[in-house]
Amino acid sequence: MYYQLGLIGHPVKQSLSPWIHSEFLKRSQLKGQYQLIDVHPDESLAHVLQQFEHEGYCGFNITVPYKEKILSYLDEVDEHARKVGAVNTVVRRKGKWIGYNTDGLGYVRALESSYPTFFKETKKNVLLIGAGGAARGIYASLLTKPLLRIDIANRTLKHAESIKMLNDTMIQTDILSLEHAKEIGSIYDLIIQTTDVGMKPNEHEMIVSFPALRKDQIISDIVYQPIMTAFLRHAKSKGAKIHCGHSMLLYQAQEAFKIWTNQWVPLEHMEQKLTKILE
Ligand code: ATR
Repeated sequence: MYYQLGLIGHPVKQSLSPWIHSEFLKRSQLKGQYQLIDVHPDESLAHVLQQFEHEGYCGFNITVPYKEKILSYLDEVDEHARKVGAVNTVVRRKGKWIGYNTDGLGYVRALESSYPTFFKETKKNVLLIGAGGAARGIYASLLTKPLLRIDIANRTLKHAESIKMLNDTMIQTDILSLEHAKEIGSIYDLIIQTTDVGMKPNEHEMIVSFPALRKDQIISDIVYQPIMTAFLRHAKSKGAKIHCGHSMLLYQAQEAFKIWTNQWVPLEHMEQKLTKILE
């Protein structure tokens, strides 16, 4: 079996996924390749899928700006991805294109890899910053954990309100302005920055700063270029623990690779290697 895989998006040329999935193919001793396919916004996704079928693709990833748009072109969409309203992984199975979303689960597993007891200890308070696609996926996955509250802080409050609609659990969610979050930041055990603020070339930007943080708080940023964002540097300077974005990239990819190949690839040394590539 030859695993023809790839990524569609616009733009895609900066993506680290080819490196990650080539490493996974090597580690699992499977034959295949992972290609970057830049799909111009004028192109039809139906045509791209036809082309993939013709070329024998086993599956592919989807990135910005097609994670939501792809849903209506697929034969099936798994329940979690449908709830989130976005797909980042598609597999060809029995002649059908089936969509999944591994971003939220990837985030949760990445956090657990650095802080294994976080979700097992006493119930925690979490703050999500941002209300875009990434926040939606992470929020839906966090709702499966025994948390006390997951508040959402965002510049536009109504965007956060629409994410809150995903909540069918007993976990509480309040919507906050960024200013309010700044004032009460020290009540949270985990603060997750999910927007692209602070991403290169705007690496000096920070979505919000906190006057005080506790040393047992975890501050997490899903931006991984640069690895040490201004937000994480700020958190570190206040004495908090930090969690960098590149691990989510690896864990969501590991989940996607499992969907395509049914292989569970160990991530040993990959975080360090990825850090070197990104530095
Ligand atoms: P994605 O799907 O990649 O997560 P998105 O849907 O465009 O991206 O969402 C971007 C998020 O970043 C939103 O929470 C957005 O805030 P708004 O909902 O108010 O638009 C947030 N964002 C982007 N630039 C921002 C900025 N300069 N300051 C504050 N928030 C910002």
